Amino acid sequence: MECNIITVFFWAIIYSCIVNRVHSQDNTNNSASNAQSFVLACGASSDATEENGRKWIPDTKYLISSENSASAIAQSQDPSLPSTIPYMTARFFKSESMYKFFVSPMFRYWIRLHFYPSSYVVFDSSKAFFSVTAGGFTLLDNFSASITVEALTQAYIIREFAMIPIKSGTLNLTFTPSSTHNDSFAFVNGIEIIPVPEIFQPAPMVGFSDQQMETESCTMQTMFRLNIGGNHIPPSNDSGYGRTWYDDAPYIYGAAMGVTSEADKNVRIAHSSDVEKYIAPLDVYSTARSMGPNSTVNINYNLTWEFQIDVNFTYLVRLHFCEYQLSKVNQRVFAIFINNQTAFPEADVIAWGEGKGVPVHKDYAIHINGESGDDRLWVALHPNVTSKPEFYDAILNGLEIFKLNDIMQNLAGPNPMPLPLKLETMSTQRQPFSQSKSKNHGIIIGSVLGVIAGFGLMFGFIMPLICRKRRVDLGGSSTSRWPSIYRYSLSFGTRTSSKTIGSSRISSMGGHLCRHFTLAEIKLGTDNFNETNVIGVGGFGKVYKGYIDGSAAVAIKRANPSSEQGVHEFETEIDLLSKLRHRHLVSLIGACEENDEMILVYDYMANGTLREHLYNKNKPPLCWKQRLDICIGAARGLHYLHTGAKYTIIHRDVKTTNILLDERWVAKVSDFGLSKTGPSLDQTHVSTMVKGSFGYLDPEYFRRQRLTEKSDVYSFGVVLFEVLCGRPAIIPTLPKDQVSLADWALINIRRKTLEEIIDPRIKGQITSDCLKHFTETAGKCLFDCSIDRPSMGSVLRHLEYSLQLQLDSDGAMAVSKQETDFNYAYYMHATLLSIQEEGEIYEESEEHGARR
Ligand SMILES: *[C@@H]1O[C@H](CO)[C@@H](O)[C@H](O)[C@H]1NC(C)=O
Ligand SMILES: *[C@@H]1O[C@H](CO)[C@@H](O)[C@H](O)[C@H]1NC(C)=O
Ligand SMILES: *[C@@H]1O[C@H](CO)[C@@H](O)[C@H](O)[C@H]1NC(C)=O
Ligand SMILES: *[C@@H]1O[C@H](CO)[C@@H](O)[C@H](O)[C@H]1NC(C)=O
Ligand SMILES: *[C@@H]1O[C@H](CO)[C@@H](O)[C@H](O)[C@H]1NC(C)=O
Ligand SMILES: *[C@@H]1O[C@H](CO)[C@@H](O)[C@H](O)[C@H]1NC(C)=O
Ligand SMILES: *[C@@H]1O[C@H](CO)[C@@H](O)[C@H](O)[C@H]1NC(C)=O
Ligand SMILES: *[C@@H]1O[C@H](CO)[C@@H](O)[C@H](O)[C@H]1NC(C)=O
Ligand SMILES: *[C@@H]1O[C@H](CO)[C@@H](O)[C@H](O)[C@H]1NC(C)=O
Ligand SMILES: *[C@@H]1O[C@H](CO)[C@@H](O)[C@H](O)[C@H]1NC(C)=O
Repeated sequence: MECNIITVFFWAIIYSCIVNRVHSQDNTNNSASNAQSFVLACGASSDATEENGRKWIPDTKYLISSENSASAIAQSQDPSLPSTIPYMTARFFKSESMYKFFVSPMFRYWIRLHFYPSSYVVFDSSKAFFSVTAGGFTLLDNFSASITVEALTQAYIIREFAMIPIKSGTLNLTFTPSSTHNDSFAFVNGIEIIPVPEIFQPAPMVGFSDQQMETESCTMQTMFRLNIGGNHIPPSNDSGYGRTWYDDAPYIYGAAMGVTSEADKNVRIAHSSDVEKYIAPLDVYSTARSMGPNSTVNINYNLTWEFQIDVNFTYLVRLHFCEYQLSKVNQRVFAIFINNQTAFPEADVIAWGEGKGVPVHKDYAIHINGESGDDRLWVALHPNVTSKPEFYDAILNGLEIFKLNDIMQNLAGPNPMPLPLKLETMSTQRQPFSQSKSKNHGIIIGSVLGVIAGFGLMFGFIMPLICRKRRVDLGGSSTSRWPSIYRYSLSFGTRTSSKTIGSSRISSMGGHLCRHFTLAEIKLGTDNFNETNVIGVGGFGKVYKGYIDGSAAVAIKRANPSSEQGVHEFETEIDLLSKLRHRHLVSLIGACEENDEMILVYDYMANGTLREHLYNKNKPPLCWKQRLDICIGAARGLHYLHTGAKYTIIHRDVKTTNILLDERWVAKVSDFGLSKTGPSLDQTHVSTMVKGSFGYLDPEYFRRQRLTEKSDVYSFGVVLFEVLCGRPAIIPTLPKDQVSLADWALINIRRKTLEEIIDPRIKGQITSDCLKHFTETAGKCLFDCSIDRPSMGSVLRHLEYSLQLQLDSDGAMAVSKQETDFNYAYYMHATLLSIQEEGEIYEESEEHGARR
């Protein structure tokens, strides 16, 4: 019965598409590139050229009836904007307004709309609710750019549509303010209208093997466009159509990430025909994700991606394949599932492409109906053993998901639901100057966001970096990622559920790198949690010194069972630390989860925290060179977090108690409980609850709740002054201007009296060149605006240079000192090598982690 309804519905859609169908498409005619494109910076007054060389022209020429419109300039430029053009200017419409373009009736056109819902002098873009129609199709309805970006934690969004050829040759693009909202208006920052040869063919309907979807005649919205197993491909590197291809890692479902690979230089990858060129650039085909080398493992899992979509629409799922590792038929044969239904039972890429290095793509259509909770689309691959292939494996190179217009010629879905992001006004104030980890506890939103960023993203992001080591440009320009709705496993948000999945997570996630301890081992090692072994207490719980395997000293962090936020941090740390290995990061050895206990086992850091060596009167003071060494080490660890990994990881709680020292005084950054993967994923900031420690908090982060890696730079600047001045970041009892070290240091720099606040115990040791360079560097870290602060890599280089200045004037003596001997050689070495070489990434030993 239900089936019949669905079938009828399909036919209705197919019919609606056939009605719209434009015949006489010549698929081999590639002169689309000769047809005119329109690239408009709305509200701009003159032509302007974007950084990557793209030219944008003002929109006035194409605007019909402009009396109800106004242009405006955004009041602030979000650092995550890929370019000022077209985002910093906007066109506003108080009533229905139209753009008119003369287009070729031969071609489909990409319509891209750019929105930057910031504040504009005369308009508050959060009040804008509007619809957009084009060529008789509703592209957006009751659309709020402001709500959408908030839900996606983006600063701007791009909406892309593939408009069917317009027979009349006139494309009308109409903006209509919503009538149901008082004083509503419409706005847009940029419009692109780009001709494209027909790249869509009829596609089989998943689950209805005898039916085809006539996609050629449907207008579509691009929902997702991913370069599977590869990097973000910016519009300038697309094969001519300004598309952006995003990384797939955030969409991978579950812990099984498979392995990524890149085509060998010797393998020639070439399009089989001209049309193929428009389908996707070769960069998409030269990287892939496959299941892994172990058949036993592969047989037991599905390589799955999950996407959030709007229900009651039909979707076209386009899979891009290119086999560049194998060359024979029946070597790698797999089934393709879409929403748990078989889309294709026996995919064999070599058979499809008739050879190695030949790109092919396959389209499947699926209708997704239901209530708003069913808004998920899954794509899964699984080896098909029936045909006895040589390898039990599967591969995918690229994936696009398009939404097809419905029977009402509509493409608009509801606005996404933003998470209720509340500004929590400094819960740190309640215990303002506490030395313990004054993190915000038990705030649902914090943990939800944390879970999203911490898990949805980290899962995705940390794993692939192990497979391939790539640098990510820190600058905003390359981070113009596709605004996307990330998959997030909310199940980790509550304590009950995480308890039940916890142990399986250890084994499935970190298990390969992270040893699983029994509670008995831990109890034995800590003398049954003997209080005399406690070496620290934090928000998470107590930290004990213990021994494993009879003699190896370890630090054992035991979650306080009543600490709600511990669950999140526990899992974050396992995820993060078990994947990250660096000389200047504390290594996680293993974990124990038994009887509700959550325990992490780390390398023991014989010399404790940096803080206790700075102004604890019971310990001998560190000399200046040692301090510099430690700062450089910590900077190196942070730099690695920010850039050494494929994705930026923001520590969020950089402070002297989180910089630990081992028996050789090597600095190691610790405590990733608050860490978040940062900007380069999809945005240049992570919108989030203010967390961190008082005295170290980035003022911009606090003002805007926008987290960037520069927030860590700020905190590190405070650490540098703490090291120089030998005083805590906050001393509440001092006169007002001296309470905060950050403020006090800047005041003294301005007054040129910094020398007066230097730790008297080291004052005589610092050469003036070194001091000058060091304080300049530290001072820049404290700049109010994050964009003015240097990157961690730059801070590191300047610190190394400071050390060089110090050593130069100290003469050769320095080299002969035993302790510094090692360090000096090490630094000389490091300055010659690129910093990245130093950031050794631990090779994953897991079964499906190793193939390259
Ligand atoms: C392609 O289309 C153009 C019109 O836009 C036409 O002049 C040309 O002859 C066509 N080329 C081919 C190969 O069909
Ligand atoms: C576009 O708008 C014009 C009026 O400016 C109208 O005459 C024309 O029919 C419209 N075209 C379409 C395809 O809606
Ligand atoms: C705004 O909406 C309210 C009811 O929601 C209505 O009473 C009022 O007249 C509206 N104002 C304008 C200016 O339309
Ligand atoms: C884009 O292409 C250029 C030239 O081929 C290349 O140098 C650059 O690395 C590419 N950028 C990305 C992000 O792939
Ligand atoms: C594959 O994985 C299974 C289960 O984890 C393991 O028992 C087996 O030894 C592995 N095989 C190879 C060849 O690594
Ligand atoms: C597909 O199966 C998984 C479990 O294997 C289930 O959680 C999910 O809801 C199913 N998806 C659909 C669309 O039926
Ligand atoms: C893979 O997905 C298919 C379709 O949802 C399902 O039938 C099958 O049980 C899954 N296999 C595994 C190992 O999860
Ligand atoms: C494998 O291929 C066979 C033959 O086409 C098919 O009958 C079977 O359902 C496929 N297996 C899976 C898991 O899809
Ligand atoms: C999808 O369509 C069904 C049947 O027409 C309807 O019951 C359901 O409410 C719709 N879902 C949404 C989210 O509109
Ligand atoms: C328009 O969108 C807003 C925000 O998502 C929603 O609250 C409202 O109900 C929508 N209005 C209509 C008429 O759909």
